[in-house]
Amino acid sequence: MSIISEDISKAIHLLTAEDIVAIPTETVYGLAGNIYSEKAIKAIFETKKRPFFNPLIVHIPSIDQLSSIVDYIPEKAQLLADAFWPGPITLVLKKKAIIPDLITGGKDTVAVRVPNHPTTLELLNKLDFPLAAPSANPFSSISPTTAKHVENYFKDSIKMVLDGGSCISGIESTIIGFENDTPIIYRLGSTAIEDIEAVVGKIEIKNSIAQPNAPINIKADVTPNAPGMLERHYAPKTKTVLTDNILKSLNTYDGKRIGLITFKSKVENKNIEVQIALSDSGSLAESASNLYDVLHQLDTMNLDIIIAEVFPDYGLGKSINDRLTRATKK
Ligand code: TXA
Ligand code: MG
Repeated sequence: MSIISEDISKAIHLLTAEDIVAIPTETVYGLAGNIYSEKAIKAIFETKKRPFFNPLIVHIPSIDQLSSIVDYIPEKAQLLADAFWPGPITLVLKKKAIIPDLITGGKDTVAVRVPNHPTTLELLNKLDFPLAAPSANPFSSISPTTAKHVENYFKDSIKMVLDGGSCISGIESTIIGFENDTPIIYRLGSTAIEDIEAVVGKIEIKNSIAQPNAPINIKADVTPNAPGMLERHYAPKTKTVLTDNILKSLNTYDGKRIGLITFKSKVENKNIEVQIALSDSGSLAESASNLYDVLHQLDTMNLDIIIAEVFPDYGLGKSINDRLTRATKK
């Protein structure tokens, strides 16, 4: 029997009983549990095979709850929350003492967002606790953008995927941290950098590796600011390359079974087994929305190689390039 269901009451029942449930958001599906339940949070890490140093995002139903999760809200954090929530921006802020170390990987900050999906907003409004939810995929594989993707990953090792259709934005939220009250992008994502700059001014992108400031026994020597910035992430099993010269790459892999991902154009070439343009009309938003589903599809076709075209280096194109680059790291 399928674990996919639209029954919100069932999800409430399971989550209240400290179980975990995969939930839809506008970005990707999340694997959710009560932030105050050690049992549920441990189950999330175990199910994903995710290292404990990699902290989780807390999902709240409205901006009003932010002050119950974090201790201090810099002015520009407030501006961003007002401008983009509900929506695909995650803010990393000083945590309140009540937020468990297990959620934050021992850090004194917590990542938080209000997701923009009607089903999950209804769910969050009916629960009396926030939900911690990392993307609902095994560690370092492609994030799921449909209920079916989640089911394919976890089968019946979880009890339920709450079905909310295909994720509209299609790549993860943009993560913004604060250093001396100055916003810094820790992970590019579904909110374009230009839209963020229109609210808070010029912003730096920083995916540097920071020393851990963690008081708990964390195994890693170094903790990245946001481990979504770990080099190899969001990766298909099939070898994947990124190119700004499609014809040259097609020739390099002559004789191989090639899957090609382009922005909008179709290419005539005998070497191509399958090709998919992410947006015939040339929309970056549509491309982002389709990206992971296309990677999932191509990854099941037993191809020798997936060749992806570099996207324009602005707007969501920057975020798509970030994910494609990580998908190609070996
Ligand atoms: O769109 C999204 O953000 C999705 C949906 C489900 O909300 N969630 C998601 O979660 O992408 P996850 O766990 O796959 O990625 C969250 C990222 C990780 O790279 C994690 O390291 C970072 O957020 N993060 C969480 N708490 C942090 C903190 N206190 N400081 C820095 N980075 C943090
Ligand atoms: Mg993830």
